[in-house]
Amino acid sequence: MTNVTQMNETDRQYYFMEKASGHVAKLGEELGRRPTCCVTTFGCQMNARDSEKLVGILEKVGYEIIEDENADFVIYNTCTVRDNANQRVYGRLGVLNGYKRKNPHMKIALCGCMMQEPTVIEKIKNSYRFVDLIFGTHNIFKFAELLCSLFENEGMVIDIWKDTDKIVEDLPVERKYSFKSGINIMFGCNNFCSYCIVPYVRGRERSRNPKDIIREIEGLVADGVVEIMLLGQNVNSYGKNLEEPITFAQLLQDVERIKGLERIRFMTSHPKDLSDELIEVMKHSKKICRHLHLPLQSGSTKILTAMNRRYTKEQYLELAEKIRKEIPDMAITTDIIVGFPGETKEDVDETIDVIRRVKYDNAFTFIYSKRTGTPAAAMEQVPEELVKEQFDRVLKTVQETAREQVSRYQGQICDVLVEEINENDSSLVTGRMSNNTLVHFPGDISLVGKLVNVSLDECHGFYYMGHMVQS
Ligand code: 5AD
Ligand code: SF4
Repeated sequence: MTNVTQMNETDRQYYFMEKASGHVAKLGEELGRRPTCCVTTFGCQMNARDSEKLVGILEKVGYEIIEDENADFVIYNTCTVRDNANQRVYGRLGVLNGYKRKNPHMKIALCGCMMQEPTVIEKIKNSYRFVDLIFGTHNIFKFAELLCSLFENEGMVIDIWKDTDKIVEDLPVERKYSFKSGINIMFGCNNFCSYCIVPYVRGRERSRNPKDIIREIEGLVADGVVEIMLLGQNVNSYGKNLEEPITFAQLLQDVERIKGLERIRFMTSHPKDLSDELIEVMKHSKKICRHLHLPLQSGSTKILTAMNRRYTKEQYLELAEKIRKEIPDMAITTDIIVGFPGETKEDVDETIDVIRRVKYDNAFTFIYSKRTGTPAAAMEQVPEELVKEQFDRVLKTVQETAREQVSRYQGQICDVLVEEINENDSSLVTGRMSNNTLVHFPGDISLVGKLVNVSLDECHGFYYMGHMVQS
């Protein structure tokens, strides 16, 4: 018989899933009903995908997945990229404690990026004693094993790894959408932008083997997926450290060949690594969506240097111009930080200049948040009251260009992937154009997951109202 310590990691975790199933079944007998579980995700697409992996295991071991946090098991998959995400977690933990007092069976787990920060762990140990399980980003693959520890031990279970070179394949995943899915192609980040905590909490860059990625996508397509999003902190440096190096553009070409797959998205691109090869591949692709997220962060070369972004304002503009020229229907979206240490009104003028010239289709604008341990935290900070005014100026400009950009498709017919019944009006469905713009139009649930042609009748700022037309 194979000893559990000698098994490969995937088999080991399936062994623990079996074992955890027994614990959950026993709990179910005690409760006289199936135990419930709720997974709440904070932050980015990476976290959303990680939560699907958690749900995959939870379903497999017998939990009923519900949306209500008044459940027998609640997991917060946390984010720490900006401090407001952390504050939300602390606030909501107070509410969970109230539920737990009424339900003594309740277990609370915390995982994700925030848990990789030692100060956070100290704070939880001291002030949130009612939390039962804490794990981090590097050991999420051993969730089944941790679940067993939770059932088999008294007191708080804490397991945080500093880093890992491990990538564990083939664990269960439960997708939120039947027709679209994120796929991790790499983990971690090597860039060390001076404001960013991600490299510290997600570790160094590790690319998945292209064969594993293709196999996973083929499996998803066989299961009804038509749109995928390749996920990585910096997808443009995918494959550089593999034993047999391959470029992101080459990977995209391999993915394109998968029959039955209709749309390919990816996130996020670092401007310094976006190659001409990638532009060529996007230009000739039938499946790669007309949407590129290209974080600018700042339009001032002085600030970009302090941020360690490794491109200048001019280099960014040149790249954006090249993309606009080669692929005119490509929507370009971005991230912008306002209030980075040392940023003046003149620096913000430069950012506004870039926004006007690139004409973003959409932009996420963030107020700089000081992250302990990052180089920028030690720099002289900009007073809060000065930041607000600059932030509003940037936001206003972004809204102007986005309106103008989005409206350029008015009256055209385009293909839309229907995602869901409209949240506010159940006679409508909501879908997404290749360039990521949302469209609402009359339809019913039978359309969800289908690609249909829609006439873009009325532009309402960031979205369209339309009607379906025969293809
Ligand atoms: N403060 C504000 N925004 C940040 N981002 C990353 N770190 C910080 C920070 N410390 C933003 C960047 C990045 C996006 C995911 O989050 O714009 O592109
Ligand atoms: Fe953070 Fe920069 Fe890496 Fe993005 S590229 S995750 S902003 S360090």
